[in-house]
Amino acid sequence: MVRLAFAETLMRGERTSKLSREEIHFLLSTTDPEEKQNLWDAADRVREKWIGPEVHLRAVVEFSNYCQRDCLYCGLRKGNQILHRYRMSQREILETSIRAKELGFQTVVLQSGEDPFYTRERIEDLIRAIKRETEMVIALSVGERSAEDYSAWRAAGGDRYLLKFETSSPFLFHRMRPGCRLDDRMNCLKNLRNLGFEVGSGNIVGLSGQTLVDLVNDIILFQKYDFDMIAVGPFISHPQTPLGSSPNGSLDLTLSVLAITRLLTQNTHLPATTAIRILDPNGCKAALAAGANILMHDFTPPIYRRYYEIYPGKSTHSIEINEIREFLTSIGRKIGQGVGSRKELLESNRGGMVRKFKNP
Ligand code: 5AD
Ligand code: SF4
Repeated sequence: MVRLAFAETLMRGERTSKLSREEIHFLLSTTDPEEKQNLWDAADRVREKWIGPEVHLRAVVEFSNYCQRDCLYCGLRKGNQILHRYRMSQREILETSIRAKELGFQTVVLQSGEDPFYTRERIEDLIRAIKRETEMVIALSVGERSAEDYSAWRAAGGDRYLLKFETSSPFLFHRMRPGCRLDDRMNCLKNLRNLGFEVGSGNIVGLSGQTLVDLVNDIILFQKYDFDMIAVGPFISHPQTPLGSSPNGSLDLTLSVLAITRLLTQNTHLPATTAIRILDPNGCKAALAAGANILMHDFTPPIYRRYYEIYPGKSTHSIEINEIREFLTSIGRKIGQGVGSRKELLESNRGGMVRKFKNP
């Protein structure tokens, strides 16, 4: 049964893209299946209105699984000494990107743990080589680095940068990421924005000790920073980490965070994250029906893929591009044309909200 207050709040959120902290909490805390479905359906309508049926694909190349950090939730943490570590050479990364381009991908996401082996210069060279050979849009996801590094990579041709803030709670952040501070991460995000990158961020839903209020604050931060992409993913427990016995995040709650994010941000790119897809066989379809419009495609060469084990099951999830096309058609969607940038969307007549907080 959908309560009247729920229906009214949801309708206002859908119409105005404005909800108070209390209203977000109210929507997020429902346990009623019909209310949850109504929330996801509203997000689906908002996605259709501002973005349309296109789903943009991104080719992800996980080029190094070395990491100097020790995040409690992540299989790549340096304390995981069982994990076999690898680094791809510049040539391998370039050849992989060229293959992605040949298959029709327009964006390559270069992702790694925080690996100082890839110095400012090495990444710069890599960006230049990929731009020269493929003219692809280049998104980087290599963690917290100096403003000078970011600046050099932007000048070399880097277009986008992904850095999830993971949780908006400074305490939880500090507990989950020993030796790291939320402020430093937010500072990195500001630097990236100021340099002209399209900036992606995101959170993890279901971290041990996280409250519903923390998730409400995550959503408020998403809206305040007006990120160009927001990845909302459930926590997935990895046995070789200190959170090995914590339960996985909930699919429904992740979908509801995603859906409210869609209501409030209108045209931001929201991926059906790999974690949602791993958590539940229906996760991908459910996320695409609750506001998501992006699919990340793992393009890491198979010999390395199984070692990029942020959480279990990640590497076994591999589908072919034809299957993606068929799947999207079956749910009334299609692969997006163009590079799928936020700017492109803002300039199209779909527009939606114009960036309000250029320098948060
Ligand atoms: N469950 C879900 N997401 C995780 N990440 C790392 N470990 C986990 C996990 N156990 C995500 C983080 C990070 C990215 C590399 O992977 O959000 O930003
Ligand atoms: Fe390293 Fe990122 Fe994993 Fe933390 S979440 S251990 S920084 S790869």
